[in-house]
Amino acid sequence: MAQPADQFKKLIAHCKENGFIYQSSEIYDGLSAAYDYGPYGVLLKNNIKQYWWKSMVQMHENIVGLDSAIFMHPKTWKASGHVDAFNDPLIDNKDSKKRYRADVLIEGAVDKILAKADKEVKKARKRFGDSFDEKMFRETNERVLKYTNRGKAIIDRMNAALKAEDMADLKAIIEELEIACEVSGSKNWTEVRQFNLMFSTQLGNVAGEEGKLYLRPETAQGIFVNFLNVQKTTRQKLPFGIAQIGKAFRNEIVARQFIFRMREFEQMEMQFFIKPGTQQKWFAYWKEARMKWHLALGTPEAKLRYHDHDNLAHYADAAVDIEFQFPFGFKELEGIHSRTDFDLGAHQELSGKKLQYFDPETKESYVPYVLETSIGCDRMFLALMSHCLQEEAVGGDENNKRDVLKLHPALAPVKFCVVPLKRNEPKLVETAKNIFKQLKFSFSGQYDDTGSIGKLYRRQDAIGTPFCITVDFETLDNNTVTVRERDSMEQERVDIDGLEKLIGERVDMKGLLA
Ligand code: GAP
Repeated sequence: MAQPADQFKKLIAHCKENGFIYQSSEIYDGLSAAYDYGPYGVLLKNNIKQYWWKSMVQMHENIVGLDSAIFMHPKTWKASGHVDAFNDPLIDNKDSKKRYRADVLIEGAVDKILAKADKEVKKARKRFGDSFDEKMFRETNERVLKYTNRGKAIIDRMNAALKAEDMADLKAIIEELEIACEVSGSKNWTEVRQFNLMFSTQLGNVAGEEGKLYLRPETAQGIFVNFLNVQKTTRQKLPFGIAQIGKAFRNEIVARQFIFRMREFEQMEMQFFIKPGTQQKWFAYWKEARMKWHLALGTPEAKLRYHDHDNLAHYADAAVDIEFQFPFGFKELEGIHSRTDFDLGAHQELSGKKLQYFDPETKESYVPYVLETSIGCDRMFLALMSHCLQEEAVGGDENNKRDVLKLHPALAPVKFCVVPLKRNEPKLVETAKNIFKQLKFSFSGQYDDTGSIGKLYRRQDAIGTPFCITVDFETLDNNTVTVRERDSMEQERVDIDGLEKLIGERVDMKGLLA
């Protein structure tokens, strides 16, 4: 079985070679942490967004949509806390001039310590065989305990330093752990300092600080500042939500792992406005609802888990991540945050405009609390690619392998491909092209006669096409075609008139939404 690092390299290569994702500005040697979605990438991304949008807006009478501007009044970011608190602790290596996030360096060193504990466990498993009780071993073995306790103590100290914004202690931890730069190998570090992650730009007609604008680091604030506009124009009563999909920008210090952490990315966020005091109930509700959304796609349960936040963001009173097991480990895919009345309250104060809801039941006005669900569209894309891209030995034959992208059919970029059995048989070609012309009204599809049938099937497997339709000589006699299903590779004979229904039933999002 391929190692995770090799798997990840293969995934990146697959995305490029099959028209899903390209490095931005590649002909100029690329721009780091920026990516372009190719022809199949954009189709898949649009389908992910559609699934999210439908599940939020179409399926909930009390959730409505919004598309707010990327540029917002600069005071927005003062009120939201991003000007003062949206920072990462940064450290430079003086020799290589390479910049790191101090907390990421420390976590990396802790991972190495914990790996020593795992090594002990692995050795013991080999020694004791089937009778090995890993839990007991981890709880009692002296060496394992020494490593895990040390790791935990360092993380606790780092979290406390982050919370207290104690940059000197972060530097002290880096020095005590003798962390070296991966490029220069030296331990010649600058002081740790806070680095604001917002990109700024300048308005054309206003000079200086006055004209300073930010590219939004989250889509959420566009929702908050429109809270009353939307509530009044849609006559929604609490609880109700506003959903938005859009670009966000962060000047990430450590931007790597392909599309996992980018400087320009897309978020799908929903802010759910609730009565103060009900946040625990709604936190539990959305936590469960969002996990169901992921599981409906066929993502294995073992690849998803919750992770409660120890370090709460400046706006939250509770927060949980849904983590996914990427090829480089379990990492955040989505966040569910109980944001209290922090944002609306802050905007109300700084703008001087009331952002209150009049409750017709209690006859009171108050600033609502907010429950947020926030997922990166690109991370969702990467999660899907990670677990859907599989290498299979066809019929168990190790010499006959195929790469198949087992996406849920509703998300597949291309739903069908029509191929004639022989490309130099005009009747077969004409019939195949007619089928394509007929089906393209309903589904995204392709006609292809540029290779042997086997080669064309593999090409479609690689981009996740659920159905390949082959027109052969029998078609000319009885109006039937063979339909090959991507995952089972089984073929069935189907009447041409029944194709639309057969494909439609499988690729419809209804099943997912239900
Ligand atoms: N409005 C809340 C918010 O922005 P966040 O945890 O900072 O919360 C939400 O971001 C989601 O956005 C993350 O769970 C992740 O999926 C995605 N995300 C954040 N930073 C990202 C980046 N640099 N590149 C790609 N996706 C990112």
